[in-house]
Amino acid sequence: PMQQADLTKRIQELKIKRNAVILSHYYSRPEVQDIADFVGDSLALSQEAVRQDADVIVFCGVHFMGESAAILSPKKTVMLPEIDATCPMADMVDVEGLKKLKENHPDTPVVSYVNTSAAIKAESYICCTSANAVEVVNSLDAEEVIFVPDKNLAAYVAARTDKTIIPWEGHCPTHHQVLREDVLKMKEKHPQAKFIAHPECRPEVLELADNVASTRGMIMYAKNSPAQEFIIGTECGLIHGLLKAAPEKTYYCVSEFACCPSMKMVNLENVLESLEKMQHVVTVPEDIRGRAKEALDRMLAVKI
Ligand code: 13P
Ligand code: SF4
Repeated sequence: PMQQADLTKRIQELKIKRNAVILSHYYSRPEVQDIADFVGDSLALSQEAVRQDADVIVFCGVHFMGESAAILSPKKTVMLPEIDATCPMADMVDVEGLKKLKENHPDTPVVSYVNTSAAIKAESYICCTSANAVEVVNSLDAEEVIFVPDKNLAAYVAARTDKTIIPWEGHCPTHHQVLREDVLKMKEKHPQAKFIAHPECRPEVLELADNVASTRGMIMYAKNSPAQEFIIGTECGLIHGLLKAAPEKTYYCVSEFACCPSMKMVNLENVLESLEKMQHVVTVPEDIRGRAKEALDRMLAVKI
C-alpha cells in the first residue's frame, strides 16, 4: 500500500489537474481533515460549497452533505469518496411518513434538519443545521412547526422557542448513546473541565452542559473560554479540530463509543480513488433538486 506522504502528494496533483477542492466535516479522520481545503460544520460546508469556484468538489463526509452541495451548486461535480457513507439518522424519516404527518397538520411548515435526503428536503419549507435551528424556527411566521428527523434537536429547539414543535422520532445513534452517567463519570474524573455538547445529545445530557453548540460552535467556545480542560460531548473526530484551534488545552471524549462509523469510512485511499476515477458523482433528480434548493436557500437567508 501507498504511504501517507505519497497518497497526499498524488491527491494534491490530481486536485490541480481536476480543478477540485476537498471539503471535510470535523468528524472525518484526522488525516482526511489535514488534506482538506476547508473543514467545517454542516452549515459552513453548505455555504462553502456555494462560495468555491472549483469545477469539482470532493466531499469528505456522509451522503446528505454531498447531496446538499450538489443541490446548491448544480454546475459543479460533487463526489463522495465512499458512496456507502450514509447517516443513519437521515434514513429514519421517509417521504410517505412525512406526507402523512403533513396531511394531519396542513398549515404547519416543515423544518428539516440538513441530515435528511434530498426528497425530504423537497417536502420541507425550510432546512436547518445544528448551528441555526433555533433562529430558523423563530424566523417562521407560524405558531406550530413540524421538525424532522432528530427528536433531541427538536427538544433543544422547543426549550428555546415559544412555538409548538411537532417532532419526529429520529435520533443520531452516535450522540444518543451518550448517557448522563458517562458525563457524570467524566466530570468526577476531571472536575475542572467544562462539558460542551452537541444538541443531538439527549436532553438529560444537555442539562449537564456548560455550552451546547454545533461542532464549529463547540470549537469557538473552547478556543475563547478561559477554561483549560473540556469534556467533549460529540463525535470524537472533533478533538482533531479542537487541538488545531487551541492546542494548549486538554480535551476528553465523553465516551469511547462516541464515534460515527459512517464518517470514518472516508480515508486517503478512497479520496485518491475518487479523484482518479471521478467517482462517486452525486446526482439529484431535477424536480426534487429545485424544491430542495428552495428549502436550503431559505435556510441560508436566515441571519444568525
Ligand atoms: P454540525 O455539523 O451541524 O455540528 O452537525 C453534526 C453532525 O452530526 C453532522 O452529521
Ligand atoms: Fe449522522 Fe450522527 Fe453520524 Fe452525524 S454523527 S453523520 S448525525 S449518524
